Amino acid sequence: MCGIVGYVGKNKNAMKVLMDGLQCLEYRGYDSAGIAILQNETIEIIKSKGKVSSLSHKLKAKGIVESELGIAHTRWATHGIPNEINSHPHRQGSVTLVHNGIIENYTQLKADLVLQGYSFTSDTDSEVACGVIDSLYKQYRDKHKTLQQANAMFRGSFAFAIVFDDDIKTLYAMRRNSPLIVAFKEDEIYVASDVPAILKYTNKYTLLEQDEYAVLTKHEVEIYSLQGTRREYEIKTAAMEVVDIQKEGFDHFMLKEIHEEPKVVSETMRFYLGDGISDLMSRLPDLSIYKELYMIGCGSAMYACMVAKSLIESKARIKVELEVASEFRYKNPILTKETLVIVVSQSGETADTLASLQLAKENNVDTLAIVNVVGSSIAREAKYVCYTLAGPEIAVATTKAYCTQVALLSLIGLSFSVIYQKVSKKEIEEIINEIKNIENTLSNVVNDGQYEVAAKIISKFSNVFFIGRGIDYALCMEASLKLKEISYIHSEAYPAGELKHGTISLVEKGTPVIAIITQQNILEKMISNMKEVKARGASIIVIASEDLEVDLDIFDYRITIPKSNSYLQAITAIVPLQLLSYQVAMLKGCDIDQPRNLAKSVTVE
Ligand code: AGP
Ligand code: GLU
Repeated sequence: MCGIVGYVGKNKNAMKVLMDGLQCLEYRGYDSAGIAILQNETIEIIKSKGKVSSLSHKLKAKGIVESELGIAHTRWATHGIPNEINSHPHRQGSVTLVHNGIIENYTQLKADLVLQGYSFTSDTDSEVACGVIDSLYKQYRDKHKTLQQANAMFRGSFAFAIVFDDDIKTLYAMRRNSPLIVAFKEDEIYVASDVPAILKYTNKYTLLEQDEYAVLTKHEVEIYSLQGTRREYEIKTAAMEVVDIQKEGFDHFMLKEIHEEPKVVSETMRFYLGDGISDLMSRLPDLSIYKELYMIGCGSAMYACMVAKSLIESKARIKVELEVASEFRYKNPILTKETLVIVVSQSGETADTLASLQLAKENNVDTLAIVNVVGSSIAREAKYVCYTLAGPEIAVATTKAYCTQVALLSLIGLSFSVIYQKVSKKEIEEIINEIKNIENTLSNVVNDGQYEVAAKIISKFSNVFFIGRGIDYALCMEASLKLKEISYIHSEAYPAGELKHGTISLVEKGTPVIAIITQQNILEKMISNMKEVKARGASIIVIASEDLEVDLDIFDYRITIPKSNSYLQAITAIVPLQLLSYQVAMLKGCDIDQPRNLAKSVTVE
């Protein structure tokens, strides 16, 4: 993972472009950052541990203002700890590069280079890649041959921006399995991991395809296949606009994004629903030809799929298989012509989800991507794409994008129920009316101040459990992930009836157990499960819909949410859990928007 940006141009604007680009790309990693910039006919490298702002301070002190060429990188470490030495750019011999991805066979390549006399200062696979390119260039003295041969030698994923010492007016770029775009302005050329990184400067761009490399000067862009054949390219115009995304008075982007949920959920649902079921059907692919679904995603996207599986199987009565993308991609999946594979991703760039999509396509089945970022790799690769309308999500922990995924998947579930005649006209009407009012309903939940007491209870412990059954268990998975990633408290989500089969041994006096209950039919079972942990000393926080009665002596604190139709209940139920995690992380003084060790978009395996 990581963000790459590069510039070559007559306006000597490298410094500004690189730093603006890195700011935009910081969501991809923020362990460390660095640039290599042309100064007085040599390539100068400046790197810094930590966020892009630390690099910025360092650069200001150096006083570099103008340059006509540079490459830059914000890292999410895969090989070697996040420190200055391991951060990019790396340099070997006459080659300087930045790398996004993992060179899987770097140990062997490193051993070969050591035999040739190379030595390495960092622990990264990227420095080894740099050595390979330098060594090949010494041998061939031909950059095309060097890049083609290097490509053939590397296993894994890479996006590179490269500068050779004997050609300091030219940028080279090459990619496999990690995205790279090339963008154009008059006599200025950019290379970047994504379009928003350079959108401030130009919206004209083209994509480097798998295993291609590019030779970029301020006047010309040449794109070559691995075999060295030059190809024509189409210049695309990005439909997006530069949006200066601010916190708008909120302490964190996460809180701002939670407060946006009422609007974006309502917009997403109303966009697809239009004037009713026939609009909904016409805005989705023809679902009537599928008899089963296979849903794939990572992290929260996967947990949105879990909610959908529970809903679709119980309501529409069609079979839904579920798989984490990193597992699916190495399976021999059982897919038939009647299977629709649905991949879910906020970023549309998650490497495992993209690879799963490609595997599904190789199996000749139809694919539908539920994606938030327009024009992202997953959106481009899928047969059908339905966008969630969450808008840009900045906080690493997803909130509003997850909610819109659940909302859109619920509509897909409703469509299947209509197709298989499992929902009455009256219920459809009820659901539509609730959707019309969903902005209000969610606003009430978001603005409800009942989370602080529970947050205080949780923040004092280092182990927390979430329990629920059915769809509530799927919500527990997401709630638990949210708490872990931003507050660093260990938590586990358990099907409520399963805890006693071993894990209950971890419950001690005071251990917080958060029970989610939105279904009347399993209320009594949940009460028994809460009593089981209560008897062992747990502090119980209940999050239950308003229609459910739970005796006061069972819980320590109750958060009540509005009752919704079961197609919509999950959307309402997750909001307090997001706010709860946020409050806990606040109490613990954590870096909420950029939690340690994480990145927004996971573009490596
Ligand atoms: C959620 O808070 C996480 N940061 C993470 O699990 C995320 O949902 C996952 O990496 C999938 O990302 P995607 O939706 O962009 O594919
Ligand atoms: N594998 C490289 C490293 O550990 C690149 C990681 C990234 O894509 O940020 O430095």
